[in-house]
Amino acid sequence: MTMVHPEKVAGTSSALGLTFKEAVGQRRSIRYYKPWQPVEREKVQKVLEAARLQSCHGNAGHVRKAVVVYRDETDPDVFAGLVDALYNQPQAAQAPVHIYWTIDMAGWEHLRDNLKGLIDAGALTSSYGWSEQFIDEIVLKTADFNVMAGELRFAEWLSAIETGIAIGTALLAAQDEGLGTQLLTGKRQQMADLLGIPDTATVAQIQLLGYAAEGTEAGGQRPRPEFEDLYFDGRWGEALYRDPAVVAELVDAGMIRQAAPLPYRRREIRALAAMFGLPD
Ligand SMILES: Cc1cc2nc3c(=O)[nH]c(=O)nc-3n(C[C@H](O)[C@H](O)[C@H](O)COP(=O)(O)O)c2cc1C
Repeated sequence: MTMVHPEKVAGTSSALGLTFKEAVGQRRSIRYYKPWQPVEREKVQKVLEAARLQSCHGNAGHVRKAVVVYRDETDPDVFAGLVDALYNQPQAAQAPVHIYWTIDMAGWEHLRDNLKGLIDAGALTSSYGWSEQFIDEIVLKTADFNVMAGELRFAEWLSAIETGIAIGTALLAAQDEGLGTQLLTGKRQQMADLLGIPDTATVAQIQLLGYAAEGTEAGGQRPRPEFEDLYFDGRWGEALYRDPAVVAELVDAGMIRQAAPLPYRRREIRALAAMFGLPD
């Protein structure tokens, strides 16, 4: 069991790190890394610790597992195979750390114990009807809760949500640690073979960690669909009002930032391409 000093239990803001709004606003998919600057193991651990604390259905956190690959400590042939599996995207070779996030369907075997753990922890309470008997007689027999009791398709997309929540947090945690980060897609079987990932697990997404070679704005905040096209008020299709005063507040807090491309972005890309010997 990890011992935590009681005074450190209550969360207080720290002089280090970003505010939540700054972390959300400053995060970018970083596509150029300083290949020469390693990432401290402590920072990688902090990213993983943040992901581990995130919410998951029935507390079934065993579904989301990850293999961390430190480029400079990995057999060069294995690392080359991983970069190849990542479609040789140049940033995969530059980034000194890769996190191979997986969805392990075997993790659902722990559902009963995890639910019981929530009762023991005082999170699921008897005043809401929770008991071991309720878990065994109702929850584990209801496909909406025990996903493995229902359609596999549903279980798989729910599992992808679980892992996605962890990955989203890991991206923000990396930003908070002053790292550049990005998600990559690759050839799942090739990666699984190289990393010894069992058949129960599927590589979901690969997270790069490194120090950014591009500016922290990485050319500005990337385009997104309009707020009103995404969020509805009470009924699908009824656009939700976007209050400009709230937008202004988020600009002040550093969450909504200047949209890409910043005026110097072309010159930045040309300089980066020259440094890495890539076409611009
Ligand atoms: C699941 C997922 C897979 C992605 N795969 C790749 C990839 O293989 N290569 C890449 O350059 N970017 C990849 N991205 C990054 C997106 O292209 C990126 O989110 C988009 O460019 C928006 O930029 P932003 O993340 O800086 O806001 C991926 C993102 C997600 C969420």
